Amino acid sequence: MDHDSLTRLPAPWEHRHPRFAAWTHIASGTWLLLLTTILYGYRRGRWWRPLLVPAAAAHLVRAHRLLQANPEGVRVTARTATRGSYGIDGGYVAVAVFGLAELGLTGATIRALRRGHRGRAGLGAVAGAAVAGSCASFLYSTGPGKRSLWAEILDELSLRGDEHVLDVGCGRGAILILAAHRLPRGKAVGVDVWRARDQNGNTRAATEHNAVVEGLRDRVEVIDADARELPFPNATFDLVVSNLTIHNIDTEQGRKRAVLEATRVLRPGGQLRIVDPPGAQRYAEWLHQAGCVEIEARKLDCRTWFGVPGHHAVLVAARNST
Ligand SMILES: C[S@@+](CC[C@H](N)C(=O)[O-])C[C@H]1O[C@@H](n2cnc3c(N)ncnc32)[C@H](O)[C@@H]1O
Repeated sequence: MDHDSLTRLPAPWEHRHPRFAAWTHIASGTWLLLLTTILYGYRRGRWWRPLLVPAAAAHLVRAHRLLQANPEGVRVTARTATRGSYGIDGGYVAVAVFGLAELGLTGATIRALRRGHRGRAGLGAVAGAAVAGSCASFLYSTGPGKRSLWAEILDELSLRGDEHVLDVGCGRGAILILAAHRLPRGKAVGVDVWRARDQNGNTRAATEHNAVVEGLRDRVEVIDADARELPFPNATFDLVVSNLTIHNIDTEQGRKRAVLEATRVLRPGGQLRIVDPPGAQRYAEWLHQAGCVEIEARKLDCRTWFGVPGHHAVLVAARNST
């Protein structure tokens, strides 16, 4: 543990339960914002009401910091690759939907308060808090949650550091660059078709820029290619990873083709890790048909909720035996 990490250790209870603490901060921040709105409706707390906003912001910033922490509570730096800019899954449309819903509910709550409909105002406030929580969960899943999850997945593989790794559907490189950080003598290759609706600012140039910003340009290669037709010979990679990509392929036949392509380019004994929304359990069957071994499909935790509590993405893991 370096000196920088030591000086950033959170308070003891946050240290023991970083995720619980983060969610407590998110709930407190959201509640304070809501309270400000309610007081505005009642025209109360005129002089001290503005103080609630920085207090709410402090809670949300604290939550953000904690959610970047590893289970030991040490703030993560290069381990989760935070220098680049990795975009928002689903693009700005997803955030706009949350924003519009929140605006509508806040307006309805204030109108109900002004007309003295306390019941309706209460309902509006609860719905507003739920949408705010859902938005926070979405932003967490698409950013720090994704990187923290994949840092764990990659660390579990105990890479030597000289592997060749392929990221199928790398987007702006969140996972590609996490892998590259672990490959001082290896190479991380990302392929994508750069669909803007899947991630905002999704271009090869943005991914290459992130590799430069993270100081990893010489370890990262980015190629235009479709997951269903990978431009590599058989048995090229030691590890193939893919995050939230294969489900974007429209047909089942196409998704199967992508999974089989991922195994084709794996060398014998190579590892495969795919994270995709519920339904990805199906990939395990195709991997079995392709002759993979040690196949596992497991539901992931709240880091993959994307704003919908109980929506657990699936990690499909396998080893190529052929
Ligand atoms: C939700 S984004 C995830 C990006 C990246 N894996 C990450 O976690 O940040 C989905 C990505 O899949 C890519 N994609 C969709 N269909 C693809 C295909 N047939 N072949 C390669 N990439 C594809 C999109 O362009 C997009 O970059």
